[in-house]
Amino acid sequence: MRLTRDQLEVAPPELARRLEAGEELQVLDVRDPARLAAGVVSPVPSERFLNIRGSELVAMADPSEAGLSTDRDVVVICGRGNDSLRVAAWLTVAGYRAKSLAGGINAWMHLSLSRPLPTPEGFDRLIQFDRPGKGALGYLLVSDGEAMAVDVSLYPEPWLQEAERAEARITAVVDTHVHADYISGGPDLAASLGVPWYLHPADMVYPYDGTPGVLPFTPIADGESIPLGRGTIRAIHTPGHTEGSVTLIAGDRAVLTGDFLFVQSVGRPDLARRTEEWSEQLWKSAHQALTGWDEDWLVLPAHYGDDSERCEDRTVGREMGRLRESNVALRLAADREKFVYWVNAQEAPAPEAYSRIKAINVGLVEVGQAEADLLEAGRNECAIV
Ligand SMILES: [Fe+2]
Repeated sequence: MRLTRDQLEVAPPELARRLEAGEELQVLDVRDPARLAAGVVSPVPSERFLNIRGSELVAMADPSEAGLSTDRDVVVICGRGNDSLRVAAWLTVAGYRAKSLAGGINAWMHLSLSRPLPTPEGFDRLIQFDRPGKGALGYLLVSDGEAMAVDVSLYPEPWLQEAERAEARITAVVDTHVHADYISGGPDLAASLGVPWYLHPADMVYPYDGTPGVLPFTPIADGESIPLGRGTIRAIHTPGHTEGSVTLIAGDRAVLTGDFLFVQSVGRPDLARRTEEWSEQLWKSAHQALTGWDEDWLVLPAHYGDDSERCEDRTVGREMGRLRESNVALRLAADREKFVYWVNAQEAPAPEAYSRIKAINVGLVEVGQAEADLLEAGRNECAIV
């Protein structure tokens, strides 16, 4: 039997669709366990997730020794989809229904799924982009043929496709803050389209030593608005996760909080090793949200931790009224001392790549594609957990 690549591969969007449809797939990661980024294929429960090196697996007399079953389809994953293809072929010959994730974890990291959200007043469309490999979220707002792209990844095609589908042209690109967990595609997208890339000026700096960043940007400050078609997006400064974090309020209720406020938690203030100072800022921002934000504002963050943060339609977001009950960090913000104590008690080491990604995102370092992929590998660790 001669197996073709097509027979043996499953493309990332197809795998996402099957996982989301609740198919009980077995996922076999054949990378060296030391290189495994935990929870990469997040909807797979641990009992159906196996990590065993390809070389160890093929040395076994029978794949069932590794815990694989012939009852369920097996999806084999590796870094770039080469080893996994060989293992999938070997498993198929051994009588298993096996497929290799095309492009491997690298392609899974680039995958971005788009989902419509309730449209705020003054807008025609609001789309959420979900990167299941990273737990990162971006957005596109459309009004009267104009679109604004928010928190764009290095792979901006989904933003461009959705704008085209809405018959709109992207007239503004915004980053809610300078990211630490992925390289922003915002500056390049804005430059290629000849439109402004908005950022709060307090973030155009390398926060570890105060070196000013060098990327051209259009500053957006607290209270300023960006018009889009017949709609308006207003920025409010919500520092703490970074000094220049902004929340974008579109129309009457869509509130893009970046990494300031998540469904379950708040953004870590310790990523730049200035925890004490930034915890204080974070408390002020959280207190402002707790006491001043409308109950029906829909909080739409830039990250999620797990599937419990999703709504039934798989979008991620919560109304502010519900967050006041369910978000522990937000509840604690009623008391400054308790909040700051809690935040500091959760301090954890940040992934090493984050300081380098920050430097890239303010233009102080340039990297090629291979290093970019390596730096971005793994889920976000932006939230306090
Ligand atoms: Fe962040």
